[in-house]
Formats: sequence, structure tokens, C-alpha cells
Amino acid sequence: PDLGRFTLAIDGPAGAGKSTIAKCLAQNLRCTYIDTGAMYRTVGLFCIQNNIDYTNEDAVNSVLSQIGIDIIYEDNAQKIYLNGVDVSTAIRTQEVAAAASKVATYKEVREALVDMQRKLAATKSVVMDGRDIGTVVLPQATLKIFLTASAEERANRRLLEYEAKGMEVAYDVLLKEIQERDDQDANREVSPLKKADDGIEIDTTSLSIEEIIERIAHLLQERL
Ligand code: DC
Repeated sequence: PDLGRFTLAIDGPAGAGKSTIAKCLAQNLRCTYIDTGAMYRTVGLFCIQNNIDYTNEDAVNSVLSQIGIDIIYEDNAQKIYLNGVDVSTAIRTQEVAAAASKVATYKEVREALVDMQRKLAATKSVVMDGRDIGTVVLPQATLKIFLTASAEERANRRLLEYEAKGMEVAYDVLLKEIQERDDQDANREVSPLKKADDGIEIDTTSLSIEEIIERIAHLLQERL
């Protein structure tokens, strides 16, 4: 059915299932999926590659204008380019995730990326996932979902993801990394991770992907 134009915001902590669910929903609803975490990761990757101390806000601000990010869709999948190079795979490491979480605390970084995100969503139906989509990026979103799951469950999911890619990571390391990122993402001053007042929270700990997708699609249809 033609739902008309809509924007679906999906926020939540690392490993809550946002990207899997957002991707499937976008496919089912025939609209564009926008992964905003990939943009923060790309800024983090640039710093690592160019020996910029990403814990130094001024240092990161001073190179922001050198970071060219392009989002391109190939076979319906989002590809992200850093200054012309496809970094879609390179940004999926724990080292880059930690750098992303840090640079995401900087106001100027957020302003630049939020601006890009709004432009991407301005003319078409989108499912956008991140931390501040319902609260800051798309406050007028048709529907705002806040996905959660226990830290242990999320560490387990990440473990399976890494194993599927043939990467060896210890569960304890992942759990600690998730807890540190939660702490940093939820307690930062600028746009901290939190449920929008009019957002709907779904605890995914004991739900299947299919159940969650069905629930969200149903909620969206009710809104349209
Ligand atoms: O979703 P992710 O793990 O790829 O995100 C990487 C980091 O980027 C995450 O630790 C917090 C930050 N982020 C953010 O602050 N705001 C967003 N909209 C998306 C991600």
C-alpha cells in the first residue's frame, strides 16, 4: 500500500537491534534506510587514519572541513564514502566505535552531521536510526521508537555478529565496551541518548526480530 511520505525514527543504545530492524523495515516499506552511526564512525575513522587525537575537541573541530562524507545507495544498501573512498567495512571495528562515541560528544561534529541527516530525510520516506533522531534530528517524525535490551543481551548479540564475520572477541571485552559507550552516549551534554517524550519504548530482550518489525510496522500504519 502507498503510505504517503513518512519518517520513522529509531533510537536506542548500541546493540539493541536498531540497524537490523531499521534495515528490514525500510525494505518492507520500500523506503530509504539511513544509518547515522556510520557518519560518526566515519569522523572517528578519519581521525584514526590521520593521527588526529580524537579525545581533543579542538583538534577534531579543526579538521572537520577536511572530512567529506557521502552516502550512496548500491543495491538498496547504504554505502558510506570518506573523501571518495568506500569505508563501509572499515568503520565496523571496536576501535572506530570508541572513537565515534567520543567525537559524537562534540557540538560542532553533531551540528555538521545533523544537518546532513536532515537533508537526506527532507524529500523522501526514511527509516533513520541513531541516538538523537526522535529528540533532535527529526522532532516531527511520523513515529519514534526507542529500542532497548539488557547490556548482557546486547553484548551477546555483538559477539554473534563478530563471530559471523570471523572476528574473535571476548564476551567480557564486548560487555565492558558496551557499558562504556552507553555511559558516554547517555551522559554527554549535547543530545544525549534518551527516549523522546512522544517516543514508544520497545524492550527487545525477549522478542524476535520479526515480532519487533511487525509491532513497529503496525504502529506506523496507525499513524498514517
Ligand atoms: O550506532 P553506532 O554504534 O554505529 O554509533 C556509533 C557511535 O556514534 C555511538 O557510540 C554514538 C554515536 N551516535 C550518536 O551520537 N548519534 C547518532 N545519531 C548515531 C550515533
